[in-house]
Amino acid sequence: MTDNAEGPGRARQNVIYRDGVLGRNPKIPTDFAALERAARKKVSPTAWAYVAGGAGAGSTMDANREGFDRWKIVPRVLRDVSSRNLSVELFGRRIPAPILFAPVGAAELVHPDADVAIAGAAADLGLPYIFSNQGSAPMEASAAAMGTAPHWFQLYWSKDEELVDSLLQRAEKSGADAIVVTLDTTMLGWRPMDLNLGSLPFARGKGIAQYTSDPRFLEIVRDRIKNPAGVQADVEVTLGAIRSLISMSRRYPGKVLQNLRSPEPRAAVETFLDIYSRPSLSWDDIATLRQRTSLPILLKGILHPDDARHAVDAGVDGILVSNHGGRQVDGSIGAMDALETIAPVVEGRATVILDSGIRGGADVFKALALGADAVTVGRPHLYGLALGGRAGARDAVANIVAEFDLTLGLSGLTSISAITRDALTRI
Ligand SMILES: Cc1cc2nc3c(=O)[nH]c(=O)nc-3n(C[C@H](O)[C@H](O)[C@H](O)COP(=O)(O)O)c2cc1C
Repeated sequence: MTDNAEGPGRARQNVIYRDGVLGRNPKIPTDFAALERAARKKVSPTAWAYVAGGAGAGSTMDANREGFDRWKIVPRVLRDVSSRNLSVELFGRRIPAPILFAPVGAAELVHPDADVAIAGAAADLGLPYIFSNQGSAPMEASAAAMGTAPHWFQLYWSKDEELVDSLLQRAEKSGADAIVVTLDTTMLGWRPMDLNLGSLPFARGKGIAQYTSDPRFLEIVRDRIKNPAGVQADVEVTLGAIRSLISMSRRYPGKVLQNLRSPEPRAAVETFLDIYSRPSLSWDDIATLRQRTSLPILLKGILHPDDARHAVDAGVDGILVSNHGGRQVDGSIGAMDALETIAPVVEGRATVILDSGIRGGADVFKALALGADAVTVGRPHLYGLALGGRAGARDAVANIVAEFDLTLGLSGLTSISAITRDALTRI
């Protein structure tokens, strides 16, 4: 983040307006609507379906926005806001703003540098990136791109317990600061935009790099191959099937030509589809986590106050109030509406992160005013990535930080702890 005595908001405005004098417009649009339009033009229809799509008719994505719109900021004046401090401490680390990069799977759909570029972008800003279990790069590669900036690891609980342990161990070894267990995707939601194109990135070997780089996963794949009943025998040979095989072979570790002749890439995809997630997951499983990792544990996908209470009573370190960006349950409660009922239940006993629907700095402000300690941002950094790789992902989030800084000051406040519910009114 630009180190500027006047704060990130004015610093970013200055860069953009100075460039404007030279006749250059920002490569990354500074508002979400324009960012989304530009990203859409840049990527393939299947990539767009996966990245922008939601569950069912998309009403949960609308609910996320409506949740923010119901709250209005009531700015105060004449309070000397010349010096502002956006920093917060999360799990022992001070970060320059209460904003994290949300975990996103299959980012290679929009840019070949995918996770490694996002990691670089987050590191440029000093903000944490939560590596996805559906990453397009092994977590070790993304960690290397983060330098000393913090990263966390997001886990999908596999049907194979040894794989869960292996992923947890790798996360610890790669220097993760926390584990985020995503609970709302024990099955994939009904996503018509993908379904109508028959498109699932993982089925083509995209977004399964955490698995194909894992020793336990490869063991399962090889066992599967040894057992002929475990491998799909008669696959219809179509142009699509050949393309998919090439896509799988390009992504599987080793040489492409060798992979094309090997049963492993296809067996890896089939294995992944069988075991990546476990619908039988319950609170009893979560209780085992404490023995399995020394890292702070956060649960992602909490929307009901009773689940939040259960999580805190179970001793987790944090929750992400999230509906997965509207991608799982159509007609679900908006994340901000959930936060309103959850924050009073948690009451400072665990870290609360608001995820889903953050589009600009005012949204960050509103989420914090309703009791969140920080927010995560998903699609905005992916759209930035699509448009400009690492620099694009960086600028998309830097714009949100800048707007948040200005919103804070222009509302009459100078620190994160000063943002309280008094700053808002509900309409
Ligand atoms: C393309 C895409 C892939 C995602 N992949 C994952 C994932 O692998 N794991 C996860 O926990 N959440 C995943 N999410 C959800 C995000 O972490 C986050 O909850 C969501 O994007 C927040 O909503 P927003 O996009 O409105 O900011 C994904 C979201 C998108 C858009």
